[in-house]
Amino acid sequence: MDQHDPPSHADGQIAEPGARLRVRPLVSADLPDLIRIDRESYTPELRESEAAFLSKLVLFRAGALGCFDGDQMCGYAFALPWKAGTLIGVAQVLDALPADPDVMYVHDMVAAPACRRRGVASTLLGEIARVAEALHLSRFELVAVQGSEPFWRQAGFQAVETFEYVPGVAATKMEMTV
Ligand SMILES: CC(C)(COP(=O)(O)OP(=O)(O)OC[C@H]1O[C@@H](n2cnc3c(N)ncnc32)[C@H](O)[C@@H]1OP(=O)(O)O)[C@@H](O)C(=O)NCCC(=O)NCCS
Repeated sequence: MDQHDPPSHADGQIAEPGARLRVRPLVSADLPDLIRIDRESYTPELRESEAAFLSKLVLFRAGALGCFDGDQMCGYAFALPWKAGTLIGVAQVLDALPADPDVMYVHDMVAAPACRRRGVASTLLGEIARVAEALHLSRFELVAVQGSEPFWRQAGFQAVETFEYVPGVAATKMEMTV
């Protein structure tokens, strides 16, 4: 277990608010579903690679979470203990976690198109919040893309600035302290 891994709360848990939704840490066998949902959900400039997914899964499995309805993956999220003000790029392959993290960085949050507005992302964010709390991280940062700001705002995040995340793709840096 990595020094940053908190005890997992996710295995086998029925998570609220989506009553039928179950959250568990991702495994490498989930990669085909991750790639499929990523391709269904992001414009080409914002798509991850298998190597990028795997690097985050290996570095911090407690923050690599899938949301399932039965056997069907409905969404996933990747969050890592990170350094405030330091962005993670699209499809960036990570090789280490910071030694002294001070934020929980939510790098990816996706609900499959057929599963939206059912609480999938809210359920995943609730689990990320539990992981952050176990690590005593009270600050969250992320880059909102594709018009997702309303989701993040209703969850408590505030916009910090807009910028170009990748060429031609507008994004909003957002943060929250709990
Ligand atoms: C953004 C996204 C993750 C939200 O996932 P979701 O599972 O549908 O979100 P939830 O069901 O938990 O939504 C909770 C609340 O957030 C708000 N919300 C969610 N999606 C919204 C949207 N498209 N427009 C406005 N408000 C939205 C609503 O208040 C919603 O509550 P309600 O359904 O009772 O009105 C999803 O639309 C998605 O995967 N988009 C494509 C990938 C992407 O761009 N991800 C963002 C990366 S930063």
